[in-house]
Amino acid sequence: MHAVVLVGGFGTRLRPLTEQIPKPMLPVGHVPMIVRLIQRLGRGGVTDVVLALGFKPEPFHAAFPDDRCGDVNVTYAVEPEPLDTAGAIRFAADAAGIDSTFVVANGDVMTDLDVAVLVEAHREAGADATIHLTGVDDPSAFGVVDLVDAVGRAGRVDQFVEKPAPGTEPSNLINAGTYVFEPGVLDLIPAGERASIERDTFPKLVAAGSMYGLATDDYWIDAGVPDLYRAANLDLLGEDRVHDGCEAIAPDAQVDPGATVMNTIVGPGAVVEAGTTVVDTVVLPGAFIGARAQVESSLVMGRVEADATVIEAIIGADGVVAEGDHVAYDAVPSPA
Ligand code: GTP
Repeated sequence: MHAVVLVGGFGTRLRPLTEQIPKPMLPVGHVPMIVRLIQRLGRGGVTDVVLALGFKPEPFHAAFPDDRCGDVNVTYAVEPEPLDTAGAIRFAADAAGIDSTFVVANGDVMTDLDVAVLVEAHREAGADATIHLTGVDDPSAFGVVDLVDAVGRAGRVDQFVEKPAPGTEPSNLINAGTYVFEPGVLDLIPAGERASIERDTFPKLVAAGSMYGLATDDYWIDAGVPDLYRAANLDLLGEDRVHDGCEAIAPDAQVDPGATVMNTIVGPGAVVEAGTTVVDTVVLPGAFIGARAQVESSLVMGRVEADATVIEAIIGADGVVAEGDHVAYDAVPSPA
């Protein structure tokens, strides 16, 4: 089975981290998000992934030099200009010659969903499109659905409301960013034009009564915002994940024995000097934390010099927190 994986977004909400590295190439537990995602799709029966790319395609080519990720074949569809989510799906599906049931996944979703279960529910329902749903406490920032008329495990989507005003949501079930489509869905998307899957395509499928949803309680996180990207990393240290996990400290990181490092991931090549306290943080590959610095609930890709304090902050690859400085609830450098 084919899958289109959407990886062409700008990742603005994770700036400045995404100024050097596209969001799906950022590590989650030392492994690029996109690699964990493709491995999971492969476990669910996907044999061929086409990466729908635009912005910064080079790192993706470099990550899969033999065009394979484990047993999954990887191809690339590079848009001449960003076509938004639906336009990108059409462009990539055409490039890969997709003409049978296929999967679509957002490149920044970390989940334990078994995609084979979604495909099975899709077939049981005889749907044109079946979307994975997850329940959240505050659905107002997401695409929210109302399900009726269950067929097997899926329900027919009666309403799809993108980012409803708080208090007006039809349910707490949100679009979790993995879909199964029949190839006919591609005919609803104009070729070569910008179009949004949520705003342009889903309403057409709902109106036709051919869109279904499957709600599961699998682990799920949209790692596209700083707090959740940090959580997606730190969750790999606990018991929450079914197939994925990681060592807290990469084998070639240099963490001084006199450093206190708690609930933190330290990536390859990173340095954490003596007397530091680093808590609830992701220290990305090659980052530096100088002696006696205090770092809490942060994402660090650049340098935190000695005696600095960094709280709930994002330090990009070019970011430097000078010796003794204090940074809280901020990004360094400030995103452009
Ligand atoms: P923000 O800028 O922080 O909103 O992130 P984003 O650009 O990644 O947008 P968003 O998270 O809403 O996108 C959902 C998924 O679609 C992500 O996996 C993006 O990489 C992808 N995506 C968004 N726009 C495009 C596009 O124009 N082309 C392609 N190929 N992928 C896209």
